[in-house]
Amino acid sequence: MSRSLTVSRAAQLVGVSRAVLQRMIGAGELAQSEGLVDVDELLRAFPDARVEQSGLLENVTRIREEAFGRRVREFVLPSPELLSQRVLVQSEELAEMRRHLQAYHELVAATIELLDRRPASAALAEETREMLERGLAQVLGSESDNRLDAMTDMLKVVSANVVVRPSGREFLVQGNDSILQAGLKAGLGLNYGCAGGNCGLCKARVISGETRQILQSDYSLSAAERAQGYLLLCAHTAVGDMVIETLEAGSPADIPEQELVARVRALQPLGPNTMLLHLQAPRSARLRFLAGQSVTLGLAQRGGDLHATWPIASCPCDDRNLHFHVARDAGDPLAERLFAGAVKSGDTLGVHGPSGDFVLGTEMPPRAVFLACDTGFGPVKSLIEHAMAAEAVERFSLYWLASRPDGHYLANQCEAWTDAFDEFDYHAASDDDVVRGGSLLAKRALDEGDPGTSRYFIAGPQAFVDAAARRLLRGRRAGRAPVRDHLLTALAPS
Ligand code: FES
Repeated sequence: MSRSLTVSRAAQLVGVSRAVLQRMIGAGELAQSEGLVDVDELLRAFPDARVEQSGLLENVTRIREEAFGRRVREFVLPSPELLSQRVLVQSEELAEMRRHLQAYHELVAATIELLDRRPASAALAEETREMLERGLAQVLGSESDNRLDAMTDMLKVVSANVVVRPSGREFLVQGNDSILQAGLKAGLGLNYGCAGGNCGLCKARVISGETRQILQSDYSLSAAERAQGYLLLCAHTAVGDMVIETLEAGSPADIPEQELVARVRALQPLGPNTMLLHLQAPRSARLRFLAGQSVTLGLAQRGGDLHATWPIASCPCDDRNLHFHVARDAGDPLAERLFAGAVKSGDTLGVHGPSGDFVLGTEMPPRAVFLACDTGFGPVKSLIEHAMAAEAVERFSLYWLASRPDGHYLANQCEAWTDAFDEFDYHAASDDDVVRGGSLLAKRALDEGDPGTSRYFIAGPQAFVDAAARRLLRGRRAGRAPVRDHLLTALAPS
């Protein structure tokens, strides 16, 4: 019986994030072979890990629920059909293991009997008998090992693990999600378009594993593609653990420009001068973007369309619902129309984009430090949600400067992150001088973390961004390492 687990499954089992296990593997604290972690190794590294203590599913669900909005909250069991298919796969594995076990038992019993009947020498017979009896005892295993195995099997029933080649990234398919939905929720930059089986852009090759079609698709794969194992990720779910081959977007250059029309779902004041604009894309034309990117919105009206480029404040793991934090700004006619009540729920806006390179990047150090000022919190929120979904970062530090009377208009969200994650610290500051505030926040961020193991993201008014960046690049004091240029990413929405 295989006693190896994928990194995702191992992380789920001991109740830590995948980033923690990846760091331990990188540091040689946990052995990994061909992408798999040995269960005994895992227990050695986490001797206190017990099914009851890890919280397992509840823990993962709680973190996701608290980390994201209601939109991606639902954690549901797979459909009865999918569950029975997974149980069947598990039962077949179990039946095969039983057959093997029975055969080994019979072999050992026959050997012991043979030794009794025709002993080569008393000492050898005794030694061999002891060795076989010890082996038999080990087959039964300890109670905690049995529980761990049982829990691993149970996890295989409620979720399937997907490994993506060539990147080696992996994610779990839960509930009734398609493979595409699950990959996006896990923060992967999978290629796709309509998410409805029409465009063929989510085509990927299955290297191993069983799938089940959950959506009728209009797009037809050629006979050659089907023979090679290609399928549409948006139209299938995973029955069991699987390996697929597909390319992922790693940088803004990998994301095509898109045009779509989205409907205003809600306009919600977050303060007297801050508005949450919630747009919903059609089911068949969603926006593919990387967290932290912006789009240009267009409002058609008599006398000429109004346009504005605003950063997206929501996670690409929910690609239909786009959020924007809009500040009242006399120099921005579209923002003024929103605050004047000229745009209502149900109206449509053109969406063009995405644009910008304020993104996480593929190689993240253990700690991500975010410095935001006012509505610069919007794109930072998108990055944080994405980093949480992708489990790309071990430790988060968020510094949020409020320079306007609206203050920290989503402080509850930040406190929810702090409660949900042990490794999330949130620092709120207020100062109407954004240059002074930016410099002080940057100094604090330097004092409270090691620039050698951190990546810094700054978003807010240009003066804030410049002041914070200057301070970070200068370092704490003479002789101390400053933040290196390539570990600093900034956005100053105009
Ligand atoms: S995303 Fe269009 S067919 Fe799957």
